[in-house]
Amino acid sequence: MSEFVRINDVGPRDGLQNQAKVLTPQQRIQLIHALVDAGLPSIEVGSFVSAKAVPAMAGAEDIVSSLNQAGVNKRAYLQSLVPNQKGYELAKAAGAEAVLLVVCASETMNQKNVRMGIQDGLAQARDMIQQAKADAIDVLACIAVAWECPFEGKTDPKVVLDMAAQLCSYGAHELVIADTIGAATPKAVHSLMRQLKAQQPDQLLACHFHDTRAMGLANVYAALEAGIRRFDASVGGLGGCPFAPGATGNIATEDVVMMLQQMGLHTGIDLTKLMAVGQLAGEMTGTATGGRAHQWRSLQLQKSRL
Ligand code: COA
Ligand code: ZN
Repeated sequence: MSEFVRINDVGPRDGLQNQAKVLTPQQRIQLIHALVDAGLPSIEVGSFVSAKAVPAMAGAEDIVSSLNQAGVNKRAYLQSLVPNQKGYELAKAAGAEAVLLVVCASETMNQKNVRMGIQDGLAQARDMIQQAKADAIDVLACIAVAWECPFEGKTDPKVVLDMAAQLCSYGAHELVIADTIGAATPKAVHSLMRQLKAQQPDQLLACHFHDTRAMGLANVYAALEAGIRRFDASVGGLGGCPFAPGATGNIATEDVVMMLQQMGLHTGIDLTKLMAVGQLAGEMTGTATGGRAHQWRSLQLQKSRL
C-alpha cells in the first residue's frame, strides 16, 4: 500500500462562507454527503459564528445534528469552526466532536477576524482546549496568515513557531498552518514546515493553502517534501475569507488528489465521484468549477467510454 495523505475538504465552510449565493443548510448537508460518498476522510462542515458576521454559515447546528443522526460522523471526521466560547458552546450542544479555532499570526488580522489580540486568542485557545478535553471534543488549532497578512505584510516565521509551541503545549489535537490569502511561495512553505516538523515531531501538522497566485499545488509539494501528510483543500476550488481582502479560492481538492495519485500517494478518494461533487458545488453556487484537474480528467473519461 502506498503512503496515505489525508485530505480535509473545507469547501462546506471556507468554500461557501464568502459565496455571493447563500446555500441552505439542506443544500450544504447534500454537499457533505456527496463528499463522504466520494471517500473524503475528513470535512469541515460549517462554522458556529455570528450570522450577522457570516450569513452564509447560518444553521450550523442543523447541519451537525443532521449529519450525526445520519451516522456521517462515523464515516468521516467532521469538524466545525468556532471563533469564541459562545461558538464552542453551540457546537458542543449540536453534538460536534471536533472544533477548529483560528488564531491569526498578525494582530490586525486577528482583530479583524475575531475582535481579539493574539495573546487573548492564545489564552482563549488554552482555556477551550482544557475544557474540550473534559467534554471529549478535539480542538484543532489553526494559525492563519502564517506566511503573509493582507494588512501587516510578511509574517515572521519566529512568530508562527512561538505560537505553534504554545498551542501544542496546551494540547491542540492538530495544528493547521494556513496561507489564508495565498501569498506563500514553495520555498517559504518548505522552510517553515521543516522548522515546525523539527520543533513538533509528534504533533499532527496540516497545511491549508489558497491558490490566489497559482502556487497552491507547488506549495502542497513543498510541504510534502518537508514531511507533511495532511492538507486542507476545497472541492471545486471554492473559497475566500470575508475578512482577508484578496483571499481567493482554496486549492481544489480535485487537483490535489490527482497530483498525489499520479505521484503514487494514496488518499482513499474516488476522483471521478469527487469531480461530480465539484460540478454539484458549481451548480449550487452558480460559480464555475475551479481547479484544473477536471478538464483533463473529463477528457480521459470520455475517451474510455468510446
Ligand atoms: N455564534 C453566534 N453568535 C455569536 C457568536 C457565535 N460564536 N459570538 C458572538 N455572537 C453574537 C452575540 O450573541 C452578539 O449578538 P447580538 O448582537 O444579537 O447580541 C453579537 O454576535 C456580538 O457579540 P460579541 O460578544 O460582542 O462578539 P464580538 O463582537 O466580540 O465577536 C465575532 C463577534 C467574532 C464572534 C463575530 O464577528 C464572528 O462570528 N465572526 C466570524 C469570524 C469568522 O468566521 N472568520 C472567518 C473564518 S477564520
Ligand atoms: Zn482558508
